[in-house]
Amino acid sequence: DGTKITDLVMPATREVQMRVLSDPEIYDLEMERIFGKIWNFLGHESEIPDPGDFVVRDMGSDQVIISRDKAGEVHVMLNVCPHRGMRVSVLDGGNTQIHKCIYHGWAFRPNGDFIGAPVEKECMHGKMMCKEELGLKKARVTLYGGLIFATWNIEGPSFEEFLGDAKWYYDILFKRSDRGLEVLGPPQRFVVRANWKAAGEQSAADGFHTLTLHRWLGEVGNYAKKNDDGTSADLSPEMYGVEISSPHGHALRCIDLARKISRLTGLDPKELSVQQKLDALPPAGMHKDMVEQLARNLSPEQLQVLTTMPPQVGGIFPNVLFGFVYIPQPDGSVLGSLTLHAYVPRGPDKLEFVNWILAEKDAPQELRERILKQTIQLFGTSGMVEQDDSDTWPHMTLSAKGAMGKKQTLKYQAVYETGAPEGWPGPGMVNEGFTKDDTQWHWWMYWRELMTSEV
Ligand code: FES
Repeated sequence: DGTKITDLVMPATREVQMRVLSDPEIYDLEMERIFGKIWNFLGHESEIPDPGDFVVRDMGSDQVIISRDKAGEVHVMLNVCPHRGMRVSVLDGGNTQIHKCIYHGWAFRPNGDFIGAPVEKECMHGKMMCKEELGLKKARVTLYGGLIFATWNIEGPSFEEFLGDAKWYYDILFKRSDRGLEVLGPPQRFVVRANWKAAGEQSAADGFHTLTLHRWLGEVGNYAKKNDDGTSADLSPEMYGVEISSPHGHALRCIDLARKISRLTGLDPKELSVQQKLDALPPAGMHKDMVEQLARNLSPEQLQVLTTMPPQVGGIFPNVLFGFVYIPQPDGSVLGSLTLHAYVPRGPDKLEFVNWILAEKDAPQELRERILKQTIQLFGTSGMVEQDDSDTWPHMTLSAKGAMGKKQTLKYQAVYETGAPEGWPGPGMVNEGFTKDDTQWHWWMYWRELMTSEV
């Protein structure tokens, strides 16, 4: 309608045009300028442990094959046959040394190289192109703590540049142990009738919806925090912490570990040494016998953050959310759950919610089984948390389709002006206090930067 892309996000007033949550033209542009450029999170290498293993995933609006070759290297290739455009793999995953297109039989190696076609002399008689030109389109791939990221931007920024300051914090989560993390079972998946950005901007560490949308967490069952007279306790102190934004739209929200220990275990954190705090609440996905590995893999400054104000929730731009959640157990202990979500775009008003559950490779089997079972019960497909989130996103998307609704703006008015706590050792744009809109706003600013850049 003539609105310039630069005007969709308005820095002077911190507003976003609501139509961005439903407009098909904007969606198409996002597929090129955002998902076609950034490093896309696709899965974890433990999903494809053996040579020939592969899974099929979405990278923006394109489907890709993620496979491991005989040498153990991980590859990401466009799942489009160069002959006539058929999907080369029509499966979700499996194991093969030969990906063979079912249409006319062109065949490809796990690294995407063209092998040949049936009755090759007859099929390939033209010889206009050599075999090297007939392979699958290959993406640039990086593994980070076992997480698989890929980009079509072959000459673009490195993965480390893309993460920027946020990497210092993500290392605390994903590179903290000797052998690293692995996924527990296949990811949980469900489709939500909502624009991917409704969930994506929430992944930039949106905190204060917890007080309202997830209020039941403080009122129901095991999770309830009650006053002595049985009434529901005030959860707002839980909303205080430290939030970190990045110029690349990544974000983290860190919560006071001492408060968490006191609430979840009843212990007095002032009486505990650092080691005792870690024993009381080991990082999610880690057994308490493993906490000695933390000092080997993290710097003293990273360890300081992990043992005082650890990341609880955050996101990797544009559509990945991670969450560290502690689940009280009937015996009084606490189970730490670590999940990674991707909100995969499936059209202007549809996203697929993909939820990976992780634990340390060295964690005992009994702990891994409990983490898997209880995380499935609590999150994602069958859980109560996030089914409530996924009720808001479709409403937001529908609102943005209304003749009047699409002319409204989203207002990011809660602004930090506090700065980092004294002695904070980490990089980035850091603010402390009650959770605000800043991290989501910086998410939108990077969205704007990418959407207005044609390169
Ligand atoms: Fe794949 Fe023809 S489309 S072999």
